[in-house]
Amino acid sequence: MKQVEFNKPVLSGELLVPGDKSISHRAVMLGSIAKGRTHITGFLNGDDCLRTIEMFKQLGVSIERKGTEVTVESPGMQNWKTPDDQLYAGNSGTTARLMLGILAGSTITSTLTGDESLSLRPMNRVTIPLQMTGAKITGKKDANLLPLTIKGSPLTAIDYVMPVASAQVKSAILFAGLNADGTTTVTEDKVSRDHTERMLMHFGAKVDSLEKKVSITGGHALEGIDVHVPGDISSAAFFMVAAAMIEGSSITFENVGLNPTRTGIIDVLQEMGASVEILNETNENGEPAATVKVTQDNLRGTTIGGALIPRLIDELPVIALLATQAKGTTIIKDAEELRVKETDRIAAVTTELKKLGANIEATDDGMIIHGPTPLRGSVMDSYGDHRLGMMAAIAALATSGPVSIKDSECINISYPNFFEDLDTLVGNGSRNN
Ligand code: S3P
Repeated sequence: MKQVEFNKPVLSGELLVPGDKSISHRAVMLGSIAKGRTHITGFLNGDDCLRTIEMFKQLGVSIERKGTEVTVESPGMQNWKTPDDQLYAGNSGTTARLMLGILAGSTITSTLTGDESLSLRPMNRVTIPLQMTGAKITGKKDANLLPLTIKGSPLTAIDYVMPVASAQVKSAILFAGLNADGTTTVTEDKVSRDHTERMLMHFGAKVDSLEKKVSITGGHALEGIDVHVPGDISSAAFFMVAAAMIEGSSITFENVGLNPTRTGIIDVLQEMGASVEILNETNENGEPAATVKVTQDNLRGTTIGGALIPRLIDELPVIALLATQAKGTTIIKDAEELRVKETDRIAAVTTELKKLGANIEATDDGMIIHGPTPLRGSVMDSYGDHRLGMMAAIAALATSGPVSIKDSECINISYPNFFEDLDTLVGNGSRNN
């Protein structure tokens, strides 16, 4: 159990944001599919991304890691070897779901497993469309739960309309489409993160993307290339919320990925009244990034729903915390996907924030929060969910007493240096007082 306690903290200074989790996974995946050498900089050494690396090593891809630099040397996916053991995705939904799409069109047979949380998460959102392409995937509950066995086979292109806004589903189908005969098309109702499309294009795949429709034509071999991973806005979001809600705070975030399919948190911070400045915009391998400065101001409640939800899906736990410190009512709706994340995040966030004295209620598809409320310390459960663990630590900045976090090690899944960065930002603030 980790105890976190602050006495009238102020956060200030600069934060170099760790690499983006979604982009790090995809860089290793495409580097392993492609033949030759892929050099990745800015890689996130979180547990989830390390699972992806380990999986490809089992398939005969050589991968070397030095700090945040990763070199992938692959014989190309047609030459992968059958793994000796099962492929373990740990806690990583992105690894499991995207690998299903990749392995479906490979030449090998393998079995994918995961930890307790991942073994309860629905896989049929991916296996149903993949089976339409001819994929041979078998497992419990009609191939809905891990472990799943995938027998690589020739695939045929499909035209698929997505029933849920999920980049993991879209990406699995596009990866399968890379090896399918013909042109695969995926249509979304609400646009989800598009890192897969951008990186496929960067690696030379035949991809067309127009608003809510993406297509890929199979049969084009990819070659290794250099990839730079920008900082993860979903990790920065925890400290953006801290900067926005703790009086006197201001943090400058360097290297924040600003792909428009991920920037919902910035829209919400501005809408709620925080000051957000965007400086020094760059673009590398099709992914925009910039420096972002967030400064505390008076906050007001807001309504978050519709097309905004996929653009901030992973930030909703910490946004709920922010809403407890905003004046008025915040309504989060259309976010039923939160119920099938690493834990049921609607139930977990409401239970844990109530322990601190928040006025929050769960709805079927979101949460309603009335603020501002003073928060008190308590024992908070992370449920083994990294984003719940970080939400609890950020909450401790606003509580009157200490917060003890159960299973805080899960934060290593996406942000191994989280507590060091928290200490530095609070330390900077105190020195400036
Ligand atoms: C991810 C997509 C999102 C997100 C997850 C990472 C990705 O899931 O919640 O943390 O890298 O594609 P869904 O697309 O299933 O909502």
